[in-house]
Order: sequence, then C-alpha cells, then structure tokens
Amino acid sequence: MAGSVAPVAGPAVPSYVRTPAAAFLSSLGVDRSLVRHDIAGSLAHVEALGAAGLLSPEQVRTLLGGLRAVAREVADGTFPWREELEDVHTNVERRLTELVGPLGGMLQAGRSRNDQVAVDERLYLRAAVAELAAALLALESAILAAAEAEQGSPMPGYTHLQRAQPVTVGHHLLAHFWRFDRDLDRLFATAERSDASPLGAGALAGSTLPLDPERTAHRLGFARAFDNSLDAVSDRDPFAELLFDLALLAVHASGLGEEIVLFATKEFGFLARTASLGSGSSLMPQKRNPDVAELVRAGAGRAIGDLVALLTTLKGLPLAYDRDLQEDKRPVLDAVASVSATVGALSALVPALRFDRERLRSASADPELYAADLAEALAARGVPFREAHETVRATFLASPAGATSGRLEAIAPGGATVVLSTEPEAALARRAVPGGPGPRALEAQLARARARRDARRTSLSSLVRKVEQIEELVNEGTT
Ligand code: ARG
Repeated sequence: MAGSVAPVAGPAVPSYVRTPAAAFLSSLGVDRSLVRHDIAGSLAHVEALGAAGLLSPEQVRTLLGGLRAVAREVADGTFPWREELEDVHTNVERRLTELVGPLGGMLQAGRSRNDQVAVDERLYLRAAVAELAAALLALESAILAAAEAEQGSPMPGYTHLQRAQPVTVGHHLLAHFWRFDRDLDRLFATAERSDASPLGAGALAGSTLPLDPERTAHRLGFARAFDNSLDAVSDRDPFAELLFDLALLAVHASGLGEEIVLFATKEFGFLARTASLGSGSSLMPQKRNPDVAELVRAGAGRAIGDLVALLTTLKGLPLAYDRDLQEDKRPVLDAVASVSATVGALSALVPALRFDRERLRSASADPELYAADLAEALAARGVPFREAHETVRATFLASPAGATSGRLEAIAPGGATVVLSTEPEAALARRAVPGGPGPRALEAQLARARARRDARRTSLSSLVRKVEQIEELVNEGTT
C-alpha cells in the first residue's frame, strides 16, 4: 500500500469538525504529541473489532498495516498534519483512510474521541512516569554518591535557619534523598492507580457493538478495564495526581536549590563557587552565580501553577465528558517537561558540588551547637531536663563564646563537673539514635537508601516493560 493512494471515503474535512470556530476549537498543537499513544489505542481497537467479528481478518490486517504506516510517517516527519482536522485523532483517521481507502472509516466504530483521548492520556502518563522515574533514580544515585563521599564531614544542622545541632553533610544530603524517594513512590502509585483502560466506554455509554473492554485493556498493558463508562471518559484523576506529584517534587527540588544558593554565598561559604553552579555576570567580572540552583528553585512556581490550572478546570464539571477537559493536556505536558529538566539539572549539579570541609568543620565546632548535649548530659545524671536546660542557658548567656574552646562544662548535682567535648566528631559519635547523624546510624541509613534505590530500579523495569509493549504494538511488522 505504501506509495499508492487508495480511494478516500467521505469529505476531506468531516462534518463533525466543520465549524467557523475551528481555529479556536483545535487542539492539534497540543495533542499531536500524543500521536504514538493514539495509534497504539487504535491498533488495539482494530483488533477488538476483528475479535468481535465486525472486521474480517483481511480487513484487520489492512487497518493494522495502515496504522503502522501512519506511525512511520509520523516518525520520519512526513505525516501531513492538517490543522483543519482539529485534533490528532481525526488527523490519524483521515490519513489512514487516504492510505487504505474507505475501510479506514471503520476505525471509529464503537469508539468516541472521548474514550480515545482518555486512553491516549493514560498511555502517555505511563511513559512519562517511566521517564521521570528514570531521571529521579539518576538523581537519587547522585545524591547517594555525594552523601557517601561526605558521610563523616561535620556541618551545623539548622532550624529556623539558625545553627542548631551538629549533623554531617552526608546526613543532610540523605534527607533530600528520602524526599525525592517519596516523590518516586508517589509517581509509581499514580501510574498504578491509573492502570485502568477507558477504551470501550465510547462517548459516555459504551457501544451497542459486542466489544470487549477487558481484551483491549490487556492488549494495551493495562491491569484492568474501566468500571463505569461515565467515569471512564471524565476521570482526570491520573493527570491531577501526576501534577500534584510533580508540584511536590518541584517544591522539594526548590528547597535543595535554595540551600545550594545559600551555601554558595560568601557568608556561608560551604560550597565552592565553581562553573557548574551557573554562569557569570556580563558586568561584574568577579561574579559566579548559582543560576542552576536558582532556576531549580523557580521551577516550583510553574509546577504549582500547572496543578492549580488543571484542578480549576476540573472543578464543577458535570458528568461525563465536557470540552473543558481538552485543556487538561497543556499543564501536564508543561509540568512534565519542566520538572524533568529540573531533575536533570540537579543530577548534573549534585556531583559537581565542592564542599569546603574546613569551613564546614569550623562552623560545626561552634560551642553553641553543643548546648543541648550538655543539658542532656546533666539529665543523664538525674537533673530534671527543664532544670538542666535553664542551667545551660544561663552558662551560655554568661559566656556566649562558650568559654574554653573544645570543651563545655557544667556542674552536676553533688558538685561533680560534667565535661563535654565540642569536637564535632566526638559529638557525632555520641549520637547513636537510628536515623540520626551518628556514624553507625548513618552507615545503616546509607545501606537502607541504597537498598531502596535498587528496589525502585526493579519497579521501574516493570513499568518500562509496559511502555515497550506499546512500542512493540506500534512497530510490529516493521524493522
Ligand atoms: N480534543 C478533545 C480533548 O482533548 C478530544 C475529545 C473531543 N471530544 C468531543 N466530543 N469533541 O478532550
């Protein structure tokens, strides 16, 4: 069939998309990026029409071949996109009909663009989650490597952005690891919850044709078919969840971005101002700005905006399909692109961070960081903690510099002197609490983080297999 153009059924522009408002209604600019998913859904639908006895095996072969030829045209850039056909669905159907003749007109039997677009979106979501998860896994690995390298490097821990108690750079970095790991978990859970195929729901009430939604669901790698046809064509929970996942991920990234900006200031001086952080100033020759971290920080605004845009569009919509739903794709595509870029930028930035260990260590030797340790040492000797707290506070107020360097003292009941080293390493060694910054606890935490990262890799490979199943469906019969 390639090259020869068969007779075409119907007018060039079908009546259902013919309107003076065509330009306003068109979604092609956005939904053409779903084209491979759209073709995959159509391939499964053609097979279903065959299984229902509505198409002969020969007709099924012709339509499958035609759809795959369309996919090849899309891939090599020769597909003739036509704006006047409104959307990706009608573009594909029209081109198929040009390639295989009037039989192409059977493609939409028992199907509406309403269940069709819902399928496209779920297939897109699956592939997007797989890509985002791969990017997040790379970031997790980068953070893990940096945490290992700086495992024992002391740094001040902060609350209210005031020096509080000692931690290590490795422990601090791992706190970011666990945030991103929850983001990864949410993405997988979102993919799992949206693992139901809407195909067969039709416009809203299914079809009179004997189609089997379970069959097409299975063919497209979905765990199940829809439960309710009205819900199937209007449910945008998968997109809303994905946008929430991305917004929170972007918020997490922005916190890390902010810390990099702060720590690279001369005032903190914890990070060397290397070229990897960003670029310079066109006016001030001495400048090296943390632009990468700044744009990571800014990205959260866009992701939150995308989430709000979708939720606002969905609010108050009556069942089932409403054209408002067409507006769901733009924020999702935007957030996926921008958050992927953010995660990629962080994965490159984290390994390039150069921590100034000297500076971090001297900031960690600040005696104030050990005031609580001293109060706890008194409590361990039987002083009610509230009383110990007051005693130590009074000591610090009387001698703000922490008196003698390297040690803190307090008088225990009975007159014994409690002496505490303010060596950061000694202070860290005092901390045995699991999940804390002490060396043994941190070693265990690192092991848990590595194991978690490896388990996530396994989850990702099963999702990737489903994505590949769709690629194989579209490519079948081609080399
Ligand atoms: N472009 C539409 C969307 O994205 C496709 C479904 C159109 N359905 C309709 N009945 N006009 O939602």
